[in-house]
Amino acid sequence: MPEPEPLDRDLIDPTVATPARIYAYLLGGEDHFPVDRAAAEKALEAMPVRDFARVNRAFLTRAVRHLAETGLDQFLDLGIGLPAPGSTAETALSVRPSARIVGVDNDPIVLAHALARRGEPAPSGATIVAGDVRRPAEILQHPEVRGRLDFDRPVAVLLVAVMHFVTDADDPYGAVRTLMDAVAPGSVLVLSQVTSDLDPEGMRATAKAYARSSVKTAVRSSKEIAAFFDGLEPVDPGLVMLSQWRPDEHVLAGDDRIGMYGGVALKR
Ligand SMILES: C[S@@+](CC[C@H](N)C(=O)[O-])C[C@H]1O[C@@H](n2cnc3c(N)ncnc32)[C@H](O)[C@@H]1O
Repeated sequence: MPEPEPLDRDLIDPTVATPARIYAYLLGGEDHFPVDRAAAEKALEAMPVRDFARVNRAFLTRAVRHLAETGLDQFLDLGIGLPAPGSTAETALSVRPSARIVGVDNDPIVLAHALARRGEPAPSGATIVAGDVRRPAEILQHPEVRGRLDFDRPVAVLLVAVMHFVTDADDPYGAVRTLMDAVAPGSVLVLSQVTSDLDPEGMRATAKAYARSSVKTAVRSSKEIAAFFDGLEPVDPGLVMLSQWRPDEHVLAGDDRIGMYGGVALKR
């Protein structure tokens, strides 16, 4: 297991909420500060964002399990977030113990976790590196990414609940294209993101709550989300509300009201 990069702990700012810590709070994790909880509670006044987090995480788990079962054994998880049940590594390794998982995140607290585990048996099984989806070329050149993943073989590229933190000014479609251009045929894109289609008013209020955080949000229509998959072949059932993507027994009544789309698509 390669060692995580050194981290400047001063980068962790407890006075500004971050998406990784808000998400950890919503999922019942432990790594969050009062500002994160306040932002999450404000968002909860507008929309059931805790259900968004649960439904999204369950989509990630189902998609990774499906891909591992169909033969994928390399996963590049961009915006991996803090450790929580149902992770890419936990799921992929349960199906394919030899799977390789590299996680990328731009929140220093995610890196701090990886650092804290240095020297321990790697419980998450993922190699975590610092990187920003808005600068995909840097991620693709990162020595840990190149060292752990074989780009001559298929890679599952995960952008799960992260592109709504990449605004149009930062060329989100170009970033996805750069990533998918770099991977071998047989690779797949797994992507989910929040939409304004179902409840534009609620989503506006939620975005306002997230405006207190370290990022800007970009809520998109189904058409705009579908454009991330341009040039790729949809894997059944295509781009759908998350609860409709190969549902299992954990999908609850009402999950179809959660305004997030997701899908998986194949690079031929
Ligand atoms: C809502 S969490 C999703 C975590 C995980 N992908 C999941 O779906 O369960 C979003 C994650 O994306 C990360 N993130 C946001 N913007 C990013 C960027 N530009 N580059 C890399 N990571 C980013 C956040 O730090 C956070 O950990």
